[in-house]
Amino acid sequence: MADSPYYLTTPIYYVNDRPHIGHAYTTLACDVLARFQRLDGHDVHFVTGTDEHGQKVEKSAQAAGVDPQAFTDEVSQNFRRLAGEMNYSNDDFIRTTEDRHIRASLAIWKAIKDNGHIYLGSYAGWYAVRDEAFYAESELEENEDGQKVAPTGAEVEWVEEPSYFFNLSEWQQPLLDFYAANPDFIGPETRRNEVVSFVEGGLKDLSISRTSFKWGVPVPDDPDHIMYVWLDALTNYLTAVGYPDEKNPDYSKYWPADLHMVGKDIVRFHAVYWPAFLMAAGLPLPKRVYAHGWLLNRGEKMSKSLGNVVLPEDLVSQYGLDPVRYYLLREVPFGNDGYISHETMVSRINGDLANDLGNLAQRSLSMIAKNCDGAVPEPGTLADDDEKLLAAARDVLDQVRSEFTRQAFHRGMEAIWLVVGDANRYVDAQAPWTLRKTDPVRMETVLYTLAETIRHLAILVQPLMPQSAGAMLDQLAVPGDARSFAHLGSGHALTAGQTLPKPSPVFPRYVDEG
Ligand code: ME8
Ligand code: MG
Repeated sequence: MADSPYYLTTPIYYVNDRPHIGHAYTTLACDVLARFQRLDGHDVHFVTGTDEHGQKVEKSAQAAGVDPQAFTDEVSQNFRRLAGEMNYSNDDFIRTTEDRHIRASLAIWKAIKDNGHIYLGSYAGWYAVRDEAFYAESELEENEDGQKVAPTGAEVEWVEEPSYFFNLSEWQQPLLDFYAANPDFIGPETRRNEVVSFVEGGLKDLSISRTSFKWGVPVPDDPDHIMYVWLDALTNYLTAVGYPDEKNPDYSKYWPADLHMVGKDIVRFHAVYWPAFLMAAGLPLPKRVYAHGWLLNRGEKMSKSLGNVVLPEDLVSQYGLDPVRYYLLREVPFGNDGYISHETMVSRINGDLANDLGNLAQRSLSMIAKNCDGAVPEPGTLADDDEKLLAAARDVLDQVRSEFTRQAFHRGMEAIWLVVGDANRYVDAQAPWTLRKTDPVRMETVLYTLAETIRHLAILVQPLMPQSAGAMLDQLAVPGDARSFAHLGSGHALTAGQTLPKPSPVFPRYVDEG
């Protein structure tokens, strides 16, 4: 397992909009997993970026009165900046307007075409620019004003034009066979069932070019046609590892991707179209697509028109970066829709972080500072209670790994916090402040056990809260190169007598103003 490659991706976001907390959420989940896998010894490649072609972006540029290239150059920067503000550790940031990506898009088109899966015809049907998606008449619904709209609520327009088609209908059985042979390909289970029944319902050939706008990748040998933006966009996952240069070391190392993380709105593109395109091009298929739920603002879907969009930078400046990172993945069971609110944020910050983890570290480390000459205490013989706590701290990684690698972040965190709870009960039961007078040797053993438990906890929470965990490890004088999961366990335990810096609280309480 050591050094085995792990390639994970976020959706590439449309540059029609500023990044909001929903975008930040998807990339955060990937960042936590990327950091986790690096600490667990994997050679990680983590990619995010922006989706810059298509009618939707072209229209936004027109509305802003700028040409699309200048528009995308500018808006794409907002997503790049977000990566800095949220402390994402992505290895690459891809833009679909880059040359490397145009090359990849042309190459995948040619591969699908050469294999006989593209034909010229004409499309007459509905298109929703907001979703960049075609809809059958039967899928449409009526909105309050009696207008035909997409099932997503997006406006639709009638399109009639020459178009190249991908023979998606031919891929129904190969897709169903693939899903059956790879039960983990789509997560969570509910999304998997939806996709399977959608495909069982039959697939129609897919229009993959448009002639009524210009902002995109021209079809090879027929530049009147612009490639369907989703074929272009999905191909970014290949571009980022060097395709079409299959000799590129990144391509041989990282493709097929281990995980495409997406929101549930775009599962069909990733779990139906994308594997079909890849099969048609003769390329290996990704191992997993995970579609998480919606982050809701007090029960409502965030949207510009409702004026309830939450901006990541606002949350971060109000509550602090690491608390926000912790909260978003802890509060909402990953995969489900869930609410975010000020009340639950404060309760997580003051409960899980300040009272539970923060206070555990602060009271343990200040007792050590006061009573052990500011150095790692000298443990005597360990009692059963000490061994039990240390075993819990050492063993929890296996569970966290199995939860995180199936994207159950909240469960992995719950497992870590069970150890935090054990440790706090251990402090209360052992009462080292009493031992100071009655049995100073035993006090040192207890404080050593606590310091060693905190070392484990801090190593484990690094993916979630890199800065805060780093500060905790600094306070334990753990060297920078001794913080990976390989350093969990007794082999790398703290050394008695090691001088420790003066402790200071890492997780302040949130106090409402006024
Ligand atoms: O669909 N809650 O881009 P997009 C949770 N360009 N996640 C949310 C969210 C919310 N309220 N709002 C957005 C596109 N997201 C295409 C993708 S990939 C080859 C092309 C997240 O800018 C979620 O991950 O509309 C969702 O799938 C994504 O943003 C959609 O971003
Ligand atoms: Mg969208």
